[in-house]
Amino acid sequence: MKIKIELDNDVRLVWPTPIFNRAYPNTSDMNTRLLEIVHQKEQEDKGTTKSIVSGWHSTEDVHTWHYPEVERLLEFISEAVTELTKLSTGVADENMSANSTYIAWANILRKGGYHKAHTHPGCTWSGVYYIESGLDDSIDVLEDAGSIEFFDPRHGVEMVPTPGNPFGQRIGFTAENGRLLCFPAWLRHTVNPYMGKRERVSIAFNVRIEKFETFD
Ligand SMILES: [Fe+2]
Repeated sequence: MKIKIELDNDVRLVWPTPIFNRAYPNTSDMNTRLLEIVHQKEQEDKGTTKSIVSGWHSTEDVHTWHYPEVERLLEFISEAVTELTKLSTGVADENMSANSTYIAWANILRKGGYHKAHTHPGCTWSGVYYIESGLDDSIDVLEDAGSIEFFDPRHGVEMVPTPGNPFGQRIGFTAENGRLLCFPAWLRHTVNPYMGKRERVSIAFNVRIEKFETFD
């Protein structure tokens, strides 16, 4: 598989930035159990601050929690990373091997909580899985949903007015139970304030890929 994006009339798109965005089906029971586990951990773990404001960020050891629901989530993450690596290499997954190192942590945002803009240095791919979106009909999705937003990574693109204004726009994704996003770790992103009355619970992760090899 080779990535080649071409349009009609001799125009080609370059520097695409992949974002894996999949809503996993049949995750309701899994999410209920993960929510219980995260709440239990919050009682035991003071957590760290990192980029989070008004919320709880667990220690970065979720990948070592021995629960079947965490194992299933790690399978989701592995699928996402495989898809993105197929895309970045143009090689089928049965023709590649690598050492992949995962770390994951849980986040709880309560009313007013957000994540400052950041990247994930030293990693290949990063992402987030939503256990509990905290959204309901009382929340204005555009204003108060605490959506994650990605910044256009191309330096200076917003400086020149362009018809249709296609450059320099932020791209947002609304949280949804069972949805997983995965993206290049260098892609700057922020999480807007979650203004709901409940809580937003997610598990975020970093993946580092080393010793990548392909074979026939
Ligand atoms: Fe992040």
